[in-house]
Amino acid sequence: MRLLVLGGTHFLGRHVATAALERGHDVATFTRGVSGEPPEGARALHGDRNDPDALPAALDGWAPELVVDTSCRTRAAARNAAAALGDVAGYAFVSSLNAYRNWPPGPVGKEEDEATWSTEDDDYGPNKAFAEREIGSAVGTGFLTARAGLIIGPHDYVYRLGWWLDRIARGGRVVVPAEGLAQPIALVDARDLAGWLVDMAERGETGAVNATGPNGMTTFGGLLDLCRDVTGSDAEWVPVPEADLLDAGVEEWVHLPLWLRAADAGPGWDIDTTRARSLGLPSRPLAESVADTWAWQTADGGPFVSPFGSPQPGLPVELEERLLAGR
Ligand SMILES: NC(=O)c1ccc[n+]([C@@H]2O[C@H](COP(=O)([O-])OP(=O)(O)OC[C@H]3O[C@@H](n4cnc5c(N)ncnc54)[C@H](OP(=O)(O)O)[C@@H]3O)[C@@H](O)[C@H]2O)c1
Repeated sequence: MRLLVLGGTHFLGRHVATAALERGHDVATFTRGVSGEPPEGARALHGDRNDPDALPAALDGWAPELVVDTSCRTRAAARNAAAALGDVAGYAFVSSLNAYRNWPPGPVGKEEDEATWSTEDDDYGPNKAFAEREIGSAVGTGFLTARAGLIIGPHDYVYRLGWWLDRIARGGRVVVPAEGLAQPIALVDARDLAGWLVDMAERGETGAVNATGPNGMTTFGGLLDLCRDVTGSDAEWVPVPEADLLDAGVEEWVHLPLWLRAADAGPGWDIDTTRARSLGLPSRPLAESVADTWAWQTADGGPFVSPFGSPQPGLPVELEERLLAGR
């Protein structure tokens, strides 16, 4: 079928385009053309999705039957997609847990029990919630919104797992959050999510899905141990109590990626993924995701710059030295 990927050249979108090509679809990607080219075999359409004329002009009569939308961040982008693509048979939209009014901190229960943002502010979560409503009402049946949790895997330029891999590979004494190690966490591999999004569009599935790995699939400490195994490092964990991290000015999620204070981490990682499991969202072994990310990162990965201007993850060296001194 004719399948359009909105996005398709960067991280998740690139994996979606690859999965769709592997299934024999006639694939087009639509991007501005500044983040590279799509996988070979896809037709690369160019334009800014915030411009109402750009997508119809780029399509030039090529009528998509299925859409996977990985790149929607603004209300204009949502309105333009709704206007141009309302008659497709299946539209899988990539949203975020941030669409929920109560996340963070969470927890997030079943999709139908949780309210999403309805405010007008131009912010990530409210914009995703708006886009779900706007495109969802244009498409109707066949519109599925995947409220994604943390996505990992090759081509992840956001560098959260990537920073841990690099830091642990350097070896020596590594600051880790003492109370955080036992925290259950859940992640989704971009390739698992991508293939499943294509499935969902093909099947014309409808509604909202909390799209992440099974609750408790690992712990934060378990993920760090895997990073040590995969990089063959001699790194030694130096657990630093949460109070000391916060006193020293360590920024949660940014300086120590994936780390949150315990009071927020518990509910934040507590996501009901019953519907994702019943709709068959796969979850490959985490060791495979970490190993493949490391292999990509050491071969041709980077530069690690979030396309959306979020801060570069990682613990500044002087802050790390201060935390290690005397321990
Ligand atoms: N990473 C996570 O852990 C996480 C968690 C929850 C949800 N999400 C969601 O997952 C989705 C996937 O993120 P990703 O970085 O992997 O996306 P992606 O689709 O792989 O990359 C973004 C794509 O959008 C294109 N793009 C950006 N601005 C555009 C514009 N104005 N007009 C047309 N195309 C534009 C980029 O190409 P050009 O730059 O060439 O235009 C690029 O191909 C996002 O919607 C994000 O909100 C991510």
